[in-house]
Amino acid sequence: MVVVAFPATVTAAAFGRLDDGRTLLTTTTQRGPRAGRPLHREGPPFMSTAHDSVTTHPTRDAGDLESRIAAQPHRFRVLTGDRPTGALHLGHYFGTLANRVRLQTLGVETYLVVADYQVITDRDLAGDLPGHVRELLLDQLAAGIDPARTTIFTHSAVPALNQLLLPLLSLVSVAELQRNPTVKAETAATGTRAMSGLMLTYPVHQAADILFCSATLVPVGQDQLAHLEVTRTLARRFNERYSPQRPVFTVPDPLVGQAPTLLGIDGHKMSKSRGNVIELRATADQTAALIRRAKTDSDRRITYDPATRPEVANLLELAGLCRGEHPATLAEQISDQGAAGLKTLVTEAVNDYFAPLRRRRAELAADAATGGLDELLARGNDHANLIADQMLDRVRNAMNMTYNRAGLMR
Ligand code: TRP
Repeated sequence: MVVVAFPATVTAAAFGRLDDGRTLLTTTTQRGPRAGRPLHREGPPFMSTAHDSVTTHPTRDAGDLESRIAAQPHRFRVLTGDRPTGALHLGHYFGTLANRVRLQTLGVETYLVVADYQVITDRDLAGDLPGHVRELLLDQLAAGIDPARTTIFTHSAVPALNQLLLPLLSLVSVAELQRNPTVKAETAATGTRAMSGLMLTYPVHQAADILFCSATLVPVGQDQLAHLEVTRTLARRFNERYSPQRPVFTVPDPLVGQAPTLLGIDGHKMSKSRGNVIELRATADQTAALIRRAKTDSDRRITYDPATRPEVANLLELAGLCRGEHPATLAEQISDQGAAGLKTLVTEAVNDYFAPLRRRRAELAADAATGGLDELLARGNDHANLIADQMLDRVRNAMNMTYNRAGLMR
């Protein structure tokens, strides 16, 4: 099958342009081994490292890390992933997917977990899992993820990764897990449901995902920073307890996304259950219909004013990301053509930008019908198993749990 990379450079440029918005800046700090490094190289204000919430100037770290990635991509390894719960939407694309493609295209080895076990953290049944995995793969590939350079695998197919949970769970207290803000938020979102043991421990499972392949970089949203902190803590604790001379686990750094958080067409947080998302796989007509329904206001003159006109600003940001233009510039172009002019422009921008991706997706779907995706996933799983088996061996060695015919029991 042919895999053509989606124009990631266009995407990166689009993000880079949007450097003054309310949601774009991430404040960061440097602690630990990297503290004290010179932080003055310039670079795209796109990503930055963040170890906690103490603040310094955001773009300096980002530039530093970005220029190090660009200079020596082979020294980095990315792990990230998604729960397979259905097709991805524009929020996913601009929030993470475009950045994954960008890093891959820079030459960073990338692992993408399809977190099927994680789907049942907050629900009893995973639904049409094969269908959801398929949609997720199609979206990733259509966006430019190249299976020749990126390992895509499913949690459930990699036993050694899951076995890492046991030693890692011994290194964290229940109180620490209960304090995790993401676990708290997700539990609140599930309503009156009792918290399952899997929900409570899923940051540890996620740590296993990251540590099994010695990832050095984990692209995350602000809200996931606490998770990464769990991973970093567990890696350090394991190394200190079992292998202080030769660390087994790599302590990863977060790469915090700088893209704006796009809202749904009703001006609320994008979520499939609200019916306010534009899916990547939507047709041009479906996209037009959705944008026609989008909430705006009655002021005929279009301006970019996120504080007082959030819905209009959100549409301008979406068009801005697609066009690689600043939202305020687009607002000036639309001027007094009102909501109708705005919607025409946004529809065109989205449909133009996503046309190649959607074309590719259709080709890939045809390919999938003949087993292309199964083969791809099987290969990804084989590779992930190889790496996971090696890591589990190192872990068991460090823990003196190696029993074999070579006579360790004497
Ligand atoms: N939690 C992520 C989601 O909800 C998926 C995920 C699983 C992940 N393991 C991970 C993300 C490790 C980053 C790193 O979609």
